[in-house]
This record gives sequence, C-alpha cells and structure tokens, in this order.
Amino acid sequence: MEYHNKLVLAPMVRVGTLPFRLLAAQYGADITYGEEIIDHKFLKCERRVNEYIGSTDFVEKGTDNVVFRTCHQERNQVVFQMGTSDAVRALNAAKIVCKDVAAVDINMGCPKSFSVSGGMGAALLAKPELIHDILTTLKRNLDVPVTCKIRLLKSSQDTVELARRIEKTGVSALAVHGRKVADRPRDPAKWSEIADVVAALSIPVIANGDVFEHDDFQRIKSATGASSVMVARGALWNASVFSPGGKLQWEDVKREYVRKSILWDNDIKSTKHTLKEIIMRYSCLELPEGKAVIKSETLADLAKLYGEEKYYQFVSDNRSLVNGSR
Ligand code: FNR
Repeated sequence: MEYHNKLVLAPMVRVGTLPFRLLAAQYGADITYGEEIIDHKFLKCERRVNEYIGSTDFVEKGTDNVVFRTCHQERNQVVFQMGTSDAVRALNAAKIVCKDVAAVDINMGCPKSFSVSGGMGAALLAKPELIHDILTTLKRNLDVPVTCKIRLLKSSQDTVELARRIEKTGVSALAVHGRKVADRPRDPAKWSEIADVVAALSIPVIANGDVFEHDDFQRIKSATGASSVMVARGALWNASVFSPGGKLQWEDVKREYVRKSILWDNDIKSTKHTLKEIIMRYSCLELPEGKAVIKSETLADLAKLYGEEKYYQFVSDNRSLVNGSR
C-alpha cells in the first residue's frame, strides 16, 4: 500500500459499506476506508466465504449479521477502520481481518459520546501512551500497514507534538481531520493546521476536511503540502467527486449505488441510510422519492423505485454467472 498522491474515501459509519466503497473506487478513489467497526463487536465475528454473493464476510457468530463485507476486487485498496481503547483487543480483532484488507486504521477522532465514553475515538487524543501502545502492538504483529486518523488538538503545537509521537510508532501514514474535537461539521476545516503537521513529519499525511469539488483536491494539497487527500461528505453527496472528468449527475450516481447495493446484497438499512443522506442534500425526505425510500423494506423495493427491476431480476437469477464475470 502506497500513501503518496492518493485520493481517499473517508471512513463513514453506515455509509462506507462494500457497494459505496466500490462506487467511490469506480469514480477514481485510490484508497477506500470502511466504516468504523468497534473491536468488541468484531471479536465476536468469524470469517465466511460467501460463494453466493462472491464476497468475504465477517459475521457475528451464531447469527447471519454481516458486520463487514469485502471482496477480492477491493483487496488492495480497502482499509479496515477500528474503534478501540486497548492494544491487545485491537490486535486480536485486526488479526481476524488483516489477510483480507490492504491496511488497518485506528479511529482517534470520533467525538460521539458512545466512542469517547468507551475510551475510544477522540478520547485517545488525550492518552499518547495508550496511542503508542496500540499502534506499536499492531505494527509489530501485523503484516499490513497500520495507520490512524486524528483530529486537531487545542493548539497547532500540541497537534504537531502528538503527530511526531505517532510517527515514531512506525505507522505508514497519518490522516488528519482539520477540525478540533469541539468543532461542528459546519465549522471550516483548518487547512493551515494540517500544513503544520505535514511540515513536521516525514511519513505521508492524508489531509481531510471540506473537499466538495474535484478542484478542491488541488486546493487542499497546495494549502497543506499533503500529497494525499481524504473526502467524506463530498463523496457521500456525490461519489463521482473523485472523477477527474468532473462530477456526474447525482441521479446517475444514486442509481449506480442502488445497482451496487443489489449486486453485493447490501444491508437494506445501510442502503436506505445512504440514499436518505444523498436525498436530504439535494431535496427533502418529505417529497415522494424520500417517502418511498423510507417505506422500502427490501432491495427489491428500491430496485423498483429506481427503475432497476430488470437488473435486480438478472442478478437474482444469475448470481453465479455475475460472480464469475466480476
Ligand atoms: C464520519 N466521520 C468518521 N470518521 C471516522 O474516523 N470514522 C467513521 O466511521 C466516521 N463516520 C462518519 C460518518 C459520516 C456520515 C460522516 C459525514 C463523517 C468523519 C469523516 O471521516 C471526516 O473526518 C469528516 O467528515 C471531515 O471530512 P469532510 O466531511 O469535511 O470531507
């Protein structure tokens, strides 16, 4: 895995499942992060090859609950992001998946209370010793690259100091979301403070925050000095933001996402959640499309809504054929 000059799909809970990652990759993302998965939950999972779908699934033991689905096609670009507060637990969870992914990343930026109260996400930013312990343990024991994603600390000097400590653990790259823990998504990302981290480190820094148009990739690169850029909301709202030829119509992107959800038999809740996020950006959920998405109970319902019944039927009738041609 190479971290220089990359366009990166950010980790996004309930959004970054297999169809969305493949969608972003199709439009030009080089590296695609999965949604954050908590180590406790992943430790209850076992690996199953799903011959019906053509995927590799990590399923909660004793259930059919797929916690993480991946496939051969994304093997060299998918990053498994984990929430953790303990080095040994993180390692044991990572060992379950590391042969099927390109890298393992630790979330050190999530400000949500479920994360922070469990000592995970942004709570780690205040515990550099624990960060060191987690990252060195993973680094020593895994054959895949290990990275982490942080937010900015109170002062730029503090962020740089932490970033230097992280670099010393031997991680392959560091993603920096240019907001502080207390910042809201509408607050502008502080690209200049990402630049301070880039200037202080030798490892690749992945700059993250407020990239919404393809031109923004060059703008954030110039402003920060980072050669790689990570995008969350800009990709959620239109995954073709990665496309060098410019964004496609969001209607077309949305339909392609529905097709990929059908092909990979995505969890209906995740597909509905992502569609609702896209619809809310451009329209509103009270209009007929939004209402119909909310009412949909199956991927077949969504296929009908988006005029993809024939594709749905074809995929259902020809699973093995479709898998063979992928
Ligand atoms: C996120 N973000 C996030 N970060 C992370 O490390 N793990 C995660 O699972 C999530 N989940 C998530 C879900 C959704 C819907 C959004 C919008 C964001 C934060 C995200 O990766 C990113 O750091 C910020 O959104 C800033 O980037 P943008 O949106 O300005 O490009």
